[in-house]
Amino acid sequence: MKLTILGGGGFRVPLVYGALLGDRAEGRVTRVVLHDVDAGRLRAIARVLAEQASGVPDAPEVAFTTDLDEALRGAAFVFSAIRVGGLEGRADDERVALAEGVLGQETVGAGGIAYGLRTVPVAVDIARRVARLAPDAWVINFTNPAGLVTEAMSRHLGDRVIGICDSPVGLGRRIARALGARPREAWIDYVGLNHLGWVRGLRIAGRDELPRLLDDPVLLGSFEEGRLFGADWLRSLGAIPNEYLHYYYFNREAVRAYREAERTRGAFLRDQQARFYAGVADPDVPALELWNRTRAEREATYMAENREAAGAGEREAEDLSGGYEDVALALMRAIARDERATLILNVRNRGTLSPLDADAVIEVPCLVDASGAHPVSVEPLPDHATGLVCAVKAVEREVLAAARSGSRATAVKAFALHPLVDSVNVAHRLVDGYTAVHPGLAYLG
Ligand code: G6P
Ligand code: MN
Repeated sequence: MKLTILGGGGFRVPLVYGALLGDRAEGRVTRVVLHDVDAGRLRAIARVLAEQASGVPDAPEVAFTTDLDEALRGAAFVFSAIRVGGLEGRADDERVALAEGVLGQETVGAGGIAYGLRTVPVAVDIARRVARLAPDAWVINFTNPAGLVTEAMSRHLGDRVIGICDSPVGLGRRIARALGARPREAWIDYVGLNHLGWVRGLRIAGRDELPRLLDDPVLLGSFEEGRLFGADWLRSLGAIPNEYLHYYYFNREAVRAYREAERTRGAFLRDQQARFYAGVADPDVPALELWNRTRAEREATYMAENREAAGAGEREAEDLSGGYEDVALALMRAIARDERATLILNVRNRGTLSPLDADAVIEVPCLVDASGAHPVSVEPLPDHATGLVCAVKAVEREVLAAARSGSRATAVKAFALHPLVDSVNVAHRLVDGYTAVHPGLAYLG
């Protein structure tokens, strides 16, 4: 079975390959084709994968190409994990937004809109090619902003594109652990959009254990989201939000922490990865070891500014590994082997959240089997959450419309309608600022 990875020279590809190496079951991936627009990055990652595979019997064979159509032909699964504009682009997204006093995070607020405007046209081109060259393939989209990009691709691929994110899984795992339960035994009642969802219940053997957690300040202080949001606020909400909601509920503090940081996340990762790719180009440098060290540093510093603003301290050791690649593999296995699984995924709504139309991509627990991912029915969100979800979905729709029409006014509208952009004037200046630095936004006339 052939798996194609787009963004194959990307830093997190060895995570996926590592998961594949551990999969011994029948029907597993036997051939991996890595596609990237940058041959140098492919060569670097090739070295890491070769070291990972050494000594592993029947390791999936790996091939590399910069020809997209060749990469897609014959693929059973296509993982898309691209970064249009690279990490330099991510750093620019942050810088332009912060100069206006608003958030530049790659998926939330102004930064997410800028990144979405750059990425959607490329994702749509990929979706069209998949529809033509590999119509039976399943596309697993990791590319951020994952919900928006999945929706853009779904207009061409229908339910054959499924978006994934590891943050809801991580959240469910942390809550289960805090409650002393095994994550596998817990049913997580979670819904929203990508990076904009809430856990409203956690049932173990049919019993909702979330109230016990919300009543216990010590338990609440024992895991990441509990410390980020604080016991009082979680009790007021009666739910545990995805960590990315810290950017909404504590927006002022998050923006300040990002402005005061020595370097933004994107700038840090840009410099860190430049060192990694340059290092691996030296054949005397052990590639896997350098990759592991770089990865550990990346994980340890994830959302550091938010944790600092909240006084949340360091990340837990258990949170530093296992997420993204596990979701990807679990999803692929469930589809390829018709092994029923329940996973939180980004799929079309189909009536699950009633205020949104059927085609809106949401993040929700799904039953997965050979026929794809089917959202389970969930309780409605409380009004304030519905309000946020609808407002952000409306912004995503403006981004999709701007990407299709090339209209600058529509792009301005997308920024202006976002709950974290506080003036139409700011939106105008953001569009001016972003189009000035990003060649990928030249289409906005
Ligand atoms: C989480 C998010 C992903 C994001 C990743 C890496 O897992 O859910 O969407 O890509 O973190 O974040 P970083 O800041 O290290 O690039
Ligand atoms: Mn994510």
